Amino acid sequence: MYREAFFITCVFAGVLSVPRFNITPCKTGDKVCYTKSSQQLYDMSIAGDPSMNIESLDPVYHKQINGQFAIIEYRMLNTSVEGFRNCHVVESELSLKKNTLVFEMSCPYVVMIGRYDISGTLIAVPIEGSGDLILKCKNYHIFVESDVTVNEGKDGHKHIQIKKFKATGDLRGGMKAQLTNLFNGSSKELADAAMSFANTYWKPVAKEFQGPVITANVKRITKNLNKYLKLIPLESMLFD
Ligand SMILES: *[C@@H]1O[C@H](CO)[C@@H](O)[C@H](O)[C@H]1NC(C)=O
Ligand SMILES: *[C@@H]1O[C@H](CO)[C@@H](O)[C@H](O)[C@H]1NC(C)=O
Repeated sequence: MYREAFFITCVFAGVLSVPRFNITPCKTGDKVCYTKSSQQLYDMSIAGDPSMNIESLDPVYHKQINGQFAIIEYRMLNTSVEGFRNCHVVESELSLKKNTLVFEMSCPYVVMIGRYDISGTLIAVPIEGSGDLILKCKNYHIFVESDVTVNEGKDGHKHIQIKKFKATGDLRGGMKAQLTNLFNGSSKELADAAMSFANTYWKPVAKEFQGPVITANVKRITKNLNKYLKLIPLESMLFD
């Protein structure tokens, strides 16, 4: 009798000690539901949880992001990016047959602040210098295609993990770029021309040069997603 009560208490305590996650379980193939539970997972991943060693990603800090292209090179140093907590998961699709997870997010407002150095041609105008950087972007859509694996975790349940991903972006609402000290402050005309070009032709500018920045941010997001996915059994997210 005591033994049984002890056993039950232990099992109960064991269940309670597993962190509870508010994820809506979905029927296989239910895209509307996938999108909803992806949003829940996304929100958790951005919020993070220091008690579980999961960093918060709003703001997210990047020591260095390098962009190397044929016509331009840049480095962004000590940047922080704010705004990921307001992104919506527009669509999400998981295929366990193809082992893929594909999702699209829309971020109403993302701001990046830090230091930069840059040298090259911004599509049509020369740009060079190093200084402070502020980029304010409106309505950024981010598309992620990832390969996933399903493996048994330490808890004996199956867990999904994102293995590799490809991320692209589509800036839709505009960008305001401010870079101090362009051309070392030696040519106001060239500096103004470069800023005016960036702020007028923000769409092609973002499309050409955003790659490393998008990838750096999605890498941090998927890292957090994977930490949560290690804790949440697949069967508690999917049912048939
Ligand atoms: C970036 O931050 C580190 C640590 O705070 C600092 O040592 C370094 O000088 C910073 N780099 C730039 C370019 O501001
Ligand atoms: C800016 O300054 C750096 C180092 O002081 C120098 O190497 C570079 O040529 C300068 N660039 C311009 C455009 O004046």
